[in-house]
Amino acid sequence: MFITFEGVEGSGKSTQAKLLAELLIKMGHKATLTREPGWGKLGELIRRAILDERDLDLDPFSELCLFCADRAQHVRDFIKPRLQEGEIVICDRYFDSTVVYQGFGRKLEKRLVNRIARASTLDLIPDVTFLLNLPVRAGLSRLQTRGEITKMDEEPLEFHEMIRQGYMLIAKREPGRIRKINADREILEIHEEIKNIVLESISL
Ligand code: TYD
Repeated sequence: MFITFEGVEGSGKSTQAKLLAELLIKMGHKATLTREPGWGKLGELIRRAILDERDLDLDPFSELCLFCADRAQHVRDFIKPRLQEGEIVICDRYFDSTVVYQGFGRKLEKRLVNRIARASTLDLIPDVTFLLNLPVRAGLSRLQTRGEITKMDEEPLEFHEMIRQGYMLIAKREPGRIRKINADREILEIHEEIKNIVLESISL
């Protein structure tokens, strides 16, 4: 089973992904938590290039290709082998992030972004995607208190608003896979909702 987490900056998706992985492991499942961008040697280089190098003025198309290069490698060398072993893989961000950040945020042609983002999954689409839904301002102010700011977080408010709108749109398009979760609640309350959805799908 392949589960992904999506959401605006500071939506709490990483916390929820971790709690879910810990729960599944405690229950005796083989579960692995991973994230994008940044898996493996190539991923580390790509992550640095996109998010940390402040004097690297990337063209949006270059950025798109780098996120997708990172993903294809991650899928082929890490995610697929684990799924084949029967493990549950949980990934913090996946191709929906590309569709939304590069398509809606960077305003590249949406159809092109969609095609490239889907191609980068090597046909591996998540069984379920949790979209942690939170107003942009609330997420950004959470980030400030946490103090880990990447280049992407420093984009203007309108950029992040476009991201949120993009997420709402793709959730509407694929309501079966993308489950919208109200993230403006206590951590454990959100976890409970996610847990129930996952346990139900595992037992199917
Ligand atoms: P990261 O520091 O991992 O934070 P978080 O996932 O908690 O937001 O930052 C990853 C950033 O990269 C984030 O701003 C979203 C962005 N991103 C894209 O623009 N496109 C992508 O395909 C992916 C995977 C991430």
